[in-house]
Amino acid sequence: MTTLPEARDFDVSADWHVADPYPFLARLRRESPVFWSEHLRAWVLTRYADVRAAYGDPRRFSSLGSLTISRSLTDATREKLGEHGSFLSSFVANVDPPVHTRLRRSVSRAFTPRAVAAMEDAFRRLNEDLLDRVVPRGAADFVAELGHEPSVKLTARFIGVPEADEAFVQARVKEWFQLFLSPQPPERQLELAGGFLTYLDYVDRLVAARAKDPRDDFTSLMTALIGDELTHREVVELISTILLGGNDTVPNQLGNTVLRLLREGAWPVPPQLIGNAAEECMRIDGASLGSFRHTTEDVVLHGVTIPAGALVLLSTDSAGHDESVFPEPERFLIDRPNAADHLVFGYGIHFCVGAALGRLQLRTALEVLGRRLPGLRLAPGERVTYRRSLVGRGPAALPVEW
Ligand code: HEM
Repeated sequence: MTTLPEARDFDVSADWHVADPYPFLARLRRESPVFWSEHLRAWVLTRYADVRAAYGDPRRFSSLGSLTISRSLTDATREKLGEHGSFLSSFVANVDPPVHTRLRRSVSRAFTPRAVAAMEDAFRRLNEDLLDRVVPRGAADFVAELGHEPSVKLTARFIGVPEADEAFVQARVKEWFQLFLSPQPPERQLELAGGFLTYLDYVDRLVAARAKDPRDDFTSLMTALIGDELTHREVVELISTILLGGNDTVPNQLGNTVLRLLREGAWPVPPQLIGNAAEECMRIDGASLGSFRHTTEDVVLHGVTIPAGALVLLSTDSAGHDESVFPEPERFLIDRPNAADHLVFGYGIHFCVGAALGRLQLRTALEVLGRRLPGLRLAPGERVTYRRSLVGRGPAALPVEW
């Protein structure tokens, strides 16, 4: 675009926005920190302080239904999903206290620092195994061939999905994202909804199997709490959505991270800088664009009244580029002192329960990839394309060679 668009042009799915929204977001932070987006049919908060304050105020910014915000689902699709109660109404990110407090306590049992640290060796091995197969080829699409497999396999093992079912689960997870987070034609919606219901049935059967025959995995740990702390439905929704998170967010962030490091000429990252480099990449190229909330009462902010019951996007993408918190926000500074203050994992009571695991995967992948592929570079002449999503940002294809 030659001239900067206006606030009313805010459209996270437009090509120009997906590729480089930052000059536009900078102007919005300055001129329209709170505005109505017709494309999203939601209000948008763009300043770091406002985004963080909204995350920290679950009483006025409710998470009820925040994850299933699709406005484009047809009645037929809604009916198909609704019959099966499959709107994830019991998922931990989709509820408020006191239900959230109870669910969060249960989930957190599986993400203790010790449990997370114990996954490092397994994740390193998964990366090494993959590289043993791919390195001799000298080139690959990073997204399809390098970025996903280790995270998908680690998440499957953590949950307790048998190896033979991994491909099925990954395909259904992709469908879920397409259905809820990017507009689809009506026929395709019904098809995707069918796939999603098959997926919920699958998880339902996995939970039943672990109830009978527990093992050392997340599903068994949560299943043991049924009747006491959790309901069967809550456990099914929790497992379905952790599989979504684990399968997709980390590989997306890794794709953004590798792309940024290669473009900045910062590859391979020296081991002592990997931790901060990963944070700076999350700040500047976050895989999560933000979170949705519903206002429970009228909220007045910078003279604008957001009415009660409105949908609001807390733009963490914009917050990560807020010049009042991150000086020279468009510059990539591998040793930026406050890089980790980004809000890509959210903030407050819903702060990502998998953040430590996500960070561990990013650091480990950068360490192994840097050591095994020190000459990694973008394939010349190839164009990087991005996925379309309301909540996520990541390359759809990233051709690399070494
Ligand atoms: C780089 C990778 C990741 C990113 C960018 C990310 C981002 C986020 C964000 C922004 C939230 C807050 C949602 C809200 O407030 O509405 C969140 C919550 C959550 N994340 Fe992550 N996440 C990542 C990795 C993971 C992983 C690996 C897991 C699990 C294996 C996970 C599981 C969850 C769960 C269960 C919640 C809900 C917590 C709650 O509502 O209390 N995430 N994540």
